[in-house]
Amino acid sequence: MNSPKRYTITAALPYTNGPIHIGHLAGVYVPADIYARFMRMQGREVAFVCGSDEHGVPITIKAKKEGVSPQDVVDKYHKIIKESFEDFGISFDNYSRTSAEVHHKTASEFFKKLYDAGKFTEETTQQLYDEKAEQFLADRFVVGTCPKCGYEESYGDQCEKCGTSHNATDLINPKSAITGSKPVLKETRHWFLPLDQYESWLNEWILEGHKKDWKSNVYGQVKSWIDDGLRPRAVTRDLDWGIPVPVEGGEGKVLYVWFDAPIGYISSTKEWAEKTGKDWEPFWKNEDTKLVHFIGKDNIVFHCVIFPAMLKAEGSYVLPENVPANEFLNLEGNKLSTSKNWAVWLHEYLEEFPGQQDVLRYALTANAPETKDNDFTWKDFQARNNNELVAIFGNFINRVVVLTNKYYDGIVPEPGEFSEVDEQTLAELKAYPAVIASSIERYRFREAQGELMNVARLGNKYLADEEPWKLIKTDEERVKTIMYVALQIASALASLSEPFLPYTAEKLKRMLDYGKASSEATAVAFEGDSGENEWEQINKESSLVPEGHQIGKGELLFSKVEDEQIQKQLDKLEATKAANIADNKKAEPQKEIATFEDFSKMDLRVGTIVEAGKMPKANKLLVLKVDTGLDVRTIVSGIAESFKPEDIIGKKVTVLVNLAPRKLRGVESEGMILMTENADGKLVFLNPDEDGVKNGTVIS
Ligand code: 2FM
Ligand code: ZN
Repeated sequence: MNSPKRYTITAALPYTNGPIHIGHLAGVYVPADIYARFMRMQGREVAFVCGSDEHGVPITIKAKKEGVSPQDVVDKYHKIIKESFEDFGISFDNYSRTSAEVHHKTASEFFKKLYDAGKFTEETTQQLYDEKAEQFLADRFVVGTCPKCGYEESYGDQCEKCGTSHNATDLINPKSAITGSKPVLKETRHWFLPLDQYESWLNEWILEGHKKDWKSNVYGQVKSWIDDGLRPRAVTRDLDWGIPVPVEGGEGKVLYVWFDAPIGYISSTKEWAEKTGKDWEPFWKNEDTKLVHFIGKDNIVFHCVIFPAMLKAEGSYVLPENVPANEFLNLEGNKLSTSKNWAVWLHEYLEEFPGQQDVLRYALTANAPETKDNDFTWKDFQARNNNELVAIFGNFINRVVVLTNKYYDGIVPEPGEFSEVDEQTLAELKAYPAVIASSIERYRFREAQGELMNVARLGNKYLADEEPWKLIKTDEERVKTIMYVALQIASALASLSEPFLPYTAEKLKRMLDYGKASSEATAVAFEGDSGENEWEQINKESSLVPEGHQIGKGELLFSKVEDEQIQKQLDKLEATKAANIADNKKAEPQKEIATFEDFSKMDLRVGTIVEAGKMPKANKLLVLKVDTGLDVRTIVSGIAESFKPEDIIGKKVTVLVNLAPRKLRGVESEGMILMTENADGKLVFLNPDEDGVKNGTVIS
């Protein structure tokens, strides 16, 4: 592999105004952890850093609401968040916090250096001011209508709906989030980073330099930002919570949280270096360092435009090589929301599913919002566990360990001559490390994890075909070879699963007494260079667990998740919904606001299905002929698993008749039948009254 030796891997610093939930884990921390663990296993030098983002308005708002100090708020949540990361095996080399002295010093010096070098412009501008609270209204202290998408609850610095980042004065009908009053304009002096001056450089660096290697969702957002034209951005605020502006005239002002937070990656690296006696500078300043930022999509502009412009202005730092931002994860069809308690909190998950961190990691990666928003459902979680981890991975390992102990007292047998199937199976096994590595290096973690499961499938199929449990009665010699091959697959799984399922890998290594069964593998303060490149070992001629090696006793890797456990979680969410309705909490729009004009574009008609048949070679598709009252047209619908063709002829349906036609398996479909799901999660035609469809069920 021709990649650099040194990796600085950062994961977005979480705001310290609440605990973290599955959305954080799926979008940022699990992918970052898979990447960091993988790189360490390749023998790369890794600094995987993060920390709590403890400044910014959300923290002050929370403190005001709870009648405590901002410091109390961050102390409380820093502890909870840090513990959650440790619990889920997120192997940060260092987890710091922006209230740490090293951070205040680093951020102050960074600002001062840019200030001294004349990189800022200074301007007196009119800013929003709340006369009742006697306070300027920056960022989340003000809400109003987004000038870009019309969302009425946009914050002063960023619209959560369309992701646009703007200045507070751009909001239409602004309103103070502190007193609810209409702000006035008042003059104040601030320092600005003139982003407009970096436009042509950003154009060249990202739009020309990273078109091919950055994810299209990231590249697209950055391009639209740059195409819209960049404007100077204030990097100071009139607030009292934050890092004091360290220059003359800065009294009573602090650094903008988005100026100081990304510098937190640097100070966390410094803190780590200090603790471990390393030098932090090569991790940020050597050209052969690869800097990778893991973030959610709402952070793209800050990591792809503003922070790089800051680094460029400073002049001595490397720039990010990649920013593999993810989209968002929803929960049971609705947006995750801290204020509406619509979340699976990590600390609560562990109370319900103790010791099952890897199951959540697995389900979240299998369903990761890598290219589009995705939905976490408890039923999917159960299916991933029961049908994949238990039935495939766990089942294979269990058979191997139990049979080895039963037939050979746990000693790896000496193989005889390999059959063609053995040779083929071992050859297939050896190809997996490169396949999985290639997916991880391209930030395709769900694909990589899918390939890992294919290794377990390979093992299962091999045992099912070779049936050593039958053969043991007639051909003991052959069984030795079969078990030897199966043990090689099991050991490969122990190594290859480590980035994804660190607790399982550790257990499995212990069971097989193989590789570095290291307890550090799951510790937060990971010392790097583990694994002695076990990854590449799989590819070698020599065996992973040689004949004569003694393995340990079997332990259960995964256990079944029962229906009652899932129902309990679903009931909990229903109770949350009911409480929100009782509190009259208005839901945020789950998708972009549709204007009346948008809606009136849709031509919805009542129709009747007059013919229905299966699409050849497709399990999910039916080809329908629908009388729309305008014509009889062909519609291809993904409902074959829920309906038999003969049962739906004559059925009245709702049809979107002006959906752009598209070809599915060579058949042109001219419209869409509207469907929803009933209480059991089964597809039903849109007829909410008869089928007991719950409120809020998505129509699609
Ligand atoms: O969106 C957030 O949660 C921010 N606190 C992320 C900050 S990332 C960084 F730059 F520090
Ligand atoms: Zn908007």
